[in-house]
Amino acid sequence: MIRKICCIGAGYVGTPTMAVIALKCPNIKITVVDSNRSRIDAWNSSNTNDFPVKEPGLDDIIKVVRNKNLFFSSDTEKHIDESEMIFLAVNTPTKKEGKGKGFAADLTNIDQCAKQIAIVSSSNKIIVEKSTLPVRTAERLKEIINKHKQDDVSFEIISNPEFLAEGTAIRDLFKSDRVLIGSDQTDEGLAAMESLVNIYKNWIPRERIIKTNIWSSELSKLASNAMLAQRISSINSLSALTEKTEAKINELSVAVGKDHRIGDKFLNVSPGFGGSCFKKDILNLVYICRQYGLEEVAEYWYQVVKINDYQRKRIFNIINSSLVELKNKRISILGWSFKKDTNDTRESSSIPISSDLIINGASLKIYDPLADKKQIIQDLTTYLESKNLDLKEIKSLLNQVKINNTLSECLSNSNAIIVLTEWDEFKQIDWQNFKLNIVDAVLPHIFDTRNILDIELLKSLEYKVFQIGNGDSNIK
Ligand SMILES: NC(=O)c1ccc[n+]([C@@H]2O[C@H](COP(=O)([O-])OP(=O)(O)OC[C@H]3O[C@@H](n4cnc5c(N)ncnc54)[C@H](O)[C@@H]3O)[C@@H](O)[C@H]2O)c1
Repeated sequence: MIRKICCIGAGYVGTPTMAVIALKCPNIKITVVDSNRSRIDAWNSSNTNDFPVKEPGLDDIIKVVRNKNLFFSSDTEKHIDESEMIFLAVNTPTKKEGKGKGFAADLTNIDQCAKQIAIVSSSNKIIVEKSTLPVRTAERLKEIINKHKQDDVSFEIISNPEFLAEGTAIRDLFKSDRVLIGSDQTDEGLAAMESLVNIYKNWIPRERIIKTNIWSSELSKLASNAMLAQRISSINSLSALTEKTEAKINELSVAVGKDHRIGDKFLNVSPGFGGSCFKKDILNLVYICRQYGLEEVAEYWYQVVKINDYQRKRIFNIINSSLVELKNKRISILGWSFKKDTNDTRESSSIPISSDLIINGASLKIYDPLADKKQIIQDLTTYLESKNLDLKEIKSLLNQVKINNTLSECLSNSNAIIVLTEWDEFKQIDWQNFKLNIVDAVLPHIFDTRNILDIELLKSLEYKVFQIGNGDSNIK
């Protein structure tokens, strides 16, 4: 029976998963550690607004379990050594330099954890790969651990990838479609797997716990993300065709999704997928395929990322051509996080689309209910840096950006309004009343890149509207 767990990584995966395990397993003491001290301090704050990750339902769980059987600490070594099971939930971004730059996963954080665990552990441990990792990472971890460990201490590495989606993390963790655990098929490996099964079985039905070999488990996570992203790129690619043919992408999604072999999930048109995972995991898959000489397979998956970039560029081009000249245009950006109900802005489509707008001379007002203001500026800065602009140019472009505290401030006095995140708040805008308050009688163009607004109502109020893939748009 596992009694003490340490989780390394207090981010979007580490904290919600550990909070749910703590709630469901009151007899297990869990400590979440992180090299980022301010993150740990924020999780220990008495004010839930300080929590670094916003997820519906998470605050309530933390209020119940924190300092009972869930702890946040910066004393990593102590908690590694004290625990019987260690979850690795550190970030694994795309490599920025060296071999595999731009494609392979950067495993620096994972390698550091393995080394640290090996050095400080004075008793046997089970190490759980929770981060998304390239297939055969466990082999690499074993090598690092064997090089640094004490002679009389042994380790079992098992894989337990996380399938939660941001925005619904707690719901997903409570009612997982499946929990996947992979291990070596040795007696020790299978025993380690059973100890994790024993934790999950406190709330996950046995038939939803899938046991595989370790390589299948590692690869299944990359495959799942690639296939989810592929559906988004598939529907987005078709939206370009429905615009040309006066078909409607929303009708197409319903018609296609009714086929039970296809299913209706993940068929919503969008300005492209964001989030920290899809792009990096597909690029990693592409890299792995190339390493094994599977060029055609690599090219097939790479196309999913290319279509995502194409969709963003396509939306920018539509806005650009419909406004004729972007210079000095005032544009309202509705939504910055990559999807609703999260404050996570990583890889959000708002970033490249907004950057291209300011580069071309537009002024932006940005509103998002949860995204942090400093983060928005940081996202723009990082993106503009990647376009090789110097600091002076970036500073001057950022002068064209204002971040608003309220939706009504953001909406006022604009030439164009672009809905980029599907926040419920945006569905409730009273466009009739808004029109009455427009001073100079020039209605803003509306670009709905999530197809959440009532286009017929907007047209009846004489707005010029674009919806992705909708043949009824009066902006083409
Ligand atoms: N975000 C998601 O929706 C999601 C879903 C499933 C899987 N994943 C995977 O889970 C992993 C974590 O993702 P995330 O979104 O939680 O990342 P995150 O950036 O939110 O959190 C990772 C945390 O790990 C910490 N960290 C990094 N190296 C460390 C070290 N050596 N020692 C201690 N702390 C360290 C960082 O400071 C950070 O707080 C990634 O591999 C990701 O692909 C993410």
